[in-house]
Amino acid sequence: MMMMMMMDTHAFFSLSLSLSHLPFPKFGVIRHHNNNKHASSSYNPHSDNKDSVVSLKEICEGHVPKHVLKRIEEIGYVMPTDVQRQALPFLFSGRDCIIHAQTGSGKTLTYLLLIFSIINITKSSVQALVLVPTRELGIQVTKVARMLASKPIGFQQDQKSCTIMPLLDGGTLKRYKSWLKAEPPTIVIATVASLSQILERQFFMLESVRVLVVDEVDFIFNSSKQTSSLRKLLNSYSSCNNRQTVFASASIPQHRRFLHDCVQQKWTKSDVVHIHVSPVEPMPSRLSHRFIICDTKRKLETLLSLIQSDAPESGIIFVGEQSEKSKKAGNSPSTSLVCDFLKASYQGSLDIFLLEDDMNFNSRAASLLEVRKGGGYLLVATNIAARGVDLPEMSHIYNFDLPRTATDYLHRAGRTCRKPFSDMKCTVTTIIVPEERFVLQKYENELMFNCEEVIP
Ligand SMILES: *[C@@H]1O[C@H](CO)[C@@H](O)[C@H](O)[C@H]1NC(C)=O
Ligand SMILES: *[C@@H]1O[C@H](CO)[C@@H](O)[C@H](O)[C@H]1NC(C)=O
Repeated sequence: MMMMMMMDTHAFFSLSLSLSHLPFPKFGVIRHHNNNKHASSSYNPHSDNKDSVVSLKEICEGHVPKHVLKRIEEIGYVMPTDVQRQALPFLFSGRDCIIHAQTGSGKTLTYLLLIFSIINITKSSVQALVLVPTRELGIQVTKVARMLASKPIGFQQDQKSCTIMPLLDGGTLKRYKSWLKAEPPTIVIATVASLSQILERQFFMLESVRVLVVDEVDFIFNSSKQTSSLRKLLNSYSSCNNRQTVFASASIPQHRRFLHDCVQQKWTKSDVVHIHVSPVEPMPSRLSHRFIICDTKRKLETLLSLIQSDAPESGIIFVGEQSEKSKKAGNSPSTSLVCDFLKASYQGSLDIFLLEDDMNFNSRAASLLEVRKGGGYLLVATNIAARGVDLPEMSHIYNFDLPRTATDYLHRAGRTCRKPFSDMKCTVTTIIVPEERFVLQKYENELMFNCEEVIP
């Protein structure tokens, strides 16, 4: 199923997380092949997955406090997912883990259960730290953590409970500072930038942190802004005693190097476990893929005519992020351009929403809330805007811009179509200029899917 890592390679973890060499190499790690027909049923907490007679509660008993176990049942987590079944025993035994599994596979609950097994709420110190790449993901993780921490029905309410602090970009340092001073939270969920500020000013010390989780680690490592801060943090944490480190991600390109570097840099202990679940067919099978070639100048019209002929029930249009240069030049981001164009030219019945990364959180939340309420909509977003946000089901995904990496393609496509038993089919259409055909072909090879050309 999985194996301790044994690495003797020499290469340094490459920060260009290109998938080109090894989407899923055969050596170093024994992968978990998820080819039984019950595979997808492990998503469903209520399914009677015959392969797993052991419940989540049973796996956690003796490690996770009773009130949390009661909460997971109340919330409806009954059977473990593959990730939980494989990772939790290692995690409870104190091993460091790299949890490498698709979006929706239950990684968040896995590391939160570890955290709840370790923290001691009678102690007044920050004992667990979860690092996330975006504010939105931070908000989601905080929500799940608080849901687990809240007292179940019938439990004594007067006991001290675990406090959880989201330390996310956009909050004010002053507020965090007084909170940390007044009563240190037990669990901190932080973006890298905010955490670095807090640590620099020594508002709390890493020494007290018993578990460090880095979620969506590939994403953090691929952002030059966040990488150096993360490295610094990992290096400081490596000298702490009594530590446990978990990396989680849907994709870890060049993961053998990553494992090697984790050990060499002492970011993890040397017996780190790599849990790699079901990467054999990473692309959800309910997706079909198409591409259409056109000139840059005709991309908007092409998009419009695709939408008109597809008549989606609902769809998302992914647009590339605006470059710093274009921002400085005062240009509108492509998301707004696409959105404005559609608002002006699209004649169908779907509502058009913008989900933009620079948008303040309230309007982003409001825009998603709108989307969830009703049926037909077209959502215009960047990868970043969509990362960490629970997207509604879509019938169509459009890549207005070619994703920059195969991983990004997978993330975009895998963002919707997540519900375990929905049989909604979803079509992913990528609009490319002629020179981009080979890049898309590369993604197809790497991720093992087929893209059919749409001839206009
Ligand atoms: C992520 O990596 C790709 C491929 O190396 C690179 O082109 C891209 O600019 C990176 N993204 C960020 C946000 O740094
Ligand atoms: C929790 O912390 C308190 C205070 O430091 C200590 O007395 C107690 O033994 C700890 N409990 C466990 C289970 O470690």
